[in-house]
Amino acid sequence: MIGIIGAMEVEMEALRALLEERQDTELGTNVFSTGLLFGREAVLAVCGCGKVNAALCTQQMILTWHPEAILNIGVAGGADPGLHIGDIVVGTAAVQHDMDTTPMGDPIGYVSKIGVVEFPCDPDLRARLKEAAGAIPDIRVLEGVIATGDQFVNQPARTAWIRETFHAAAVEMEGAAVAHACLLHGVPCGVLRSISDGANDDSGMDFAAFTHLAAEHAQTVVRHLLAGT
Ligand code: ADE
Repeated sequence: MIGIIGAMEVEMEALRALLEERQDTELGTNVFSTGLLFGREAVLAVCGCGKVNAALCTQQMILTWHPEAILNIGVAGGADPGLHIGDIVVGTAAVQHDMDTTPMGDPIGYVSKIGVVEFPCDPDLRARLKEAAGAIPDIRVLEGVIATGDQFVNQPARTAWIRETFHAAAVEMEGAAVAHACLLHGVPCGVLRSISDGANDDSGMDFAAFTHLAAEHAQTVVRHLLAGT
């Protein structure tokens, strides 16, 4: 079984509509939809925005359904200036850009206990996501670090800091939390984002205007991945 998590309804609705033999299970604040996607067993969930929502949902999914891999998909702000609306970023790793215990002597972004800055994305899933993204015409597909934090980033100085500090290609609010929970439980994880805005002064308006298109792109990549086309 494959697990797929998005933060917002718009990031999951196209895939959920394709789920055959669908069953919904409500656990806490999450609804997990199970069934068949292109003949493969899948469990889908909308976790809500932010790291805690994402980590709790991921852990619940793992403990209840034991998926062999989890994909976190959705939209992001572009941190790499070469990215445009609708482009795809396949995560090489995810970081928590708002985790800062530097006054305690730790590196920026260091997550204690688990002891890492970068949460790795599974190399096999990465390769398959990249290939599947090639099916979307007229977009750029980039592999890079995804930076996660509990904030909608729309200040160019903050975006530049995240890009330079973590070599990040995109900013969003869940990827590293999903990857964190997956790493703890030994579940391979893929993080895929499509660009809805430039993480700049225009982001509020661009996010409203382009989230639907970007969310469609991310779900289209997963469709191609699962359908093997
Ligand atoms: N998701 C989409 N755009 C974003 C942004 N600019 N900051 C954080 N998360 C996002």
